Amino acid sequence: MNLILFGAPGAGKGTQTGSLIDTYHIPAIATGDMLRAQRRAGTALGEQVKSYMDRGELVPDNLMIDIIKERLQKPDAKNGFILDGFPRTVAQAEALDRKLDQLGRRVDAVIYLRVSRQVLIDRLSHRYSCRTCDAVYNFAPQQAGNLPRCSVDGGDLYQRPDDRPEIVAHRIDVFLKHTAPLIDYYTAQHKLENIDGQMSVDDVRADITRRLSALRKGAGSR
Ligand code: AP5
Repeated sequence: MNLILFGAPGAGKGTQTGSLIDTYHIPAIATGDMLRAQRRAGTALGEQVKSYMDRGELVPDNLMIDIIKERLQKPDAKNGFILDGFPRTVAQAEALDRKLDQLGRRVDAVIYLRVSRQVLIDRLSHRYSCRTCDAVYNFAPQQAGNLPRCSVDGGDLYQRPDDRPEIVAHRIDVFLKHTAPLIDYYTAQHKLENIDGQMSVDDVRADITRRLSALRKGAGSR
């Protein structure tokens, strides 16, 4: 399965990838996590992308397309992948289609997690992330002075700079302007699975699983 998890900031893409990895045994390729890892490692790329990310702007297409092309060639992506955070522009989607075409592959499905602006803002105001492993936690803002350590690796929990309310508002605007056109792009390819991302985490997961099973059955019977 070659899957794309698609949705606005805070739609729940990262939350849903874990169960998909377990079900389909394919890697998640989360571009935001990859960029944050570069920043933590202090690489030149990390330095280059820092100001875009902290302002809630998109990193330029040419950089992102090179990163993804290289990542898709890695052996673990040979039998499929879950893209989280890519593509984010029509240019990125076209580059992905061209690259997969060269590899004799294609996108099988695009899972669109549909969530209202107010719910996105509310979710991201409660989100805290581990500084070292990106694990996600939810706390009320008033608990910020008394946060536990990350239960995965003991790391420090923090609020991502781009989860500040004014940056979240801008990220949602950037999504609507540059990324939402992909809804039409993938609808035209008959690949979009439009899912109510405001259900509980378990119900969203169940809906994704049900639709992917139906797609696999359909593909198997053709
Ligand atoms: P990235 O890290 O990809 O951020 P994003 O797409 O804005 O996504 P988020 O991580 O904010 O949200 P999510 O959908 O994963 O939600 P989550 O599951 O955590 O990108 C960051 C930056 O990197 C970009 O702004 C850009 O600068 C750059 N970048 C990355 N890729 C790029 C690209 N391709 N091109 C250009 N630039 C790029 O959930 C959010 C919260 O909600 C959590 O607290 C979670 O617990 C909670 N939650 C999730 N689901 C539910 C539910 N069903 N019910 C209740 N709560 C829920």
